[in-house]
Amino acid sequence: MTLLSFCEWLAETEWSIALHESFYMYPLIESTHVVALFLFAGTIAMVDLRLLGFAFRDVPVSEINARILPWTVAGAFVMVLTGVLLFYAIPVRTYQSLWFRFKVVFLLVAAFNVWRFHRRVQKNRVVWDSDERPPRSARVSGAVSLSMWAGVIVFGRMIAYNWFDCDRPQSDFVYWLSGCIVELADA
Ligand code: HEM
Repeated sequence: MTLLSFCEWLAETEWSIALHESFYMYPLIESTHVVALFLFAGTIAMVDLRLLGFAFRDVPVSEINARILPWTVAGAFVMVLTGVLLFYAIPVRTYQSLWFRFKVVFLLVAAFNVWRFHRRVQKNRVVWDSDERPPRSARVSGAVSLSMWAGVIVFGRMIAYNWFDCDRPQSDFVYWLSGCIVELADA
């Protein structure tokens, strides 16, 4: 089973159709996705700005993380839950959305960056915990995080636009990137 045929199957399920056609549920879920953004993005930005040495420079990184990251995790939980439901409501178009595909790439890089920070960068944190300007590896983590999450937000917002949709004329490259199945016109 390909991912596309899985999405086609999803789109035919009763709950996906119900969600897609619902008058209140879809906008409610989408609004929750957006409202949770202030919790998620607002708090991750504070952590990243501290890592970059731009803000809260007199507060140890460990203290910022301990106080703020639980809120970030709560926000991420709501974002992922509502995001999966948004996908479930419109699986085929979303799967073939170029914006969504890039958003997933940014999400994966951001997730890898979180893993790398906790596994590698934090290892010797006691040495630099109170430094106003953390070491390069920590600053790189902060910069990558800020840029990847910005990408997730911008490309998430763009999913609503049909510029690169499969049902519009596109270049072969865009068709390929979006995984569009193109019917060849009769010669
Ligand atoms: C922390 C992670 C995430 C962030 C920061 C984020 C951010 C956003 C933003 C800003 C929008 C635009 C909302 C609007 O224009 O009304 C959006 C839309 C969307 N997101 Fe997410 N998102 C995240 C995770 C996810 C996940 C994990 C999925 C699915 C697996 C997902 C699926 C979607 C879909 C399908 C839309 C388009 C909704 C539409 O236009 O109808 N998101 N996201």
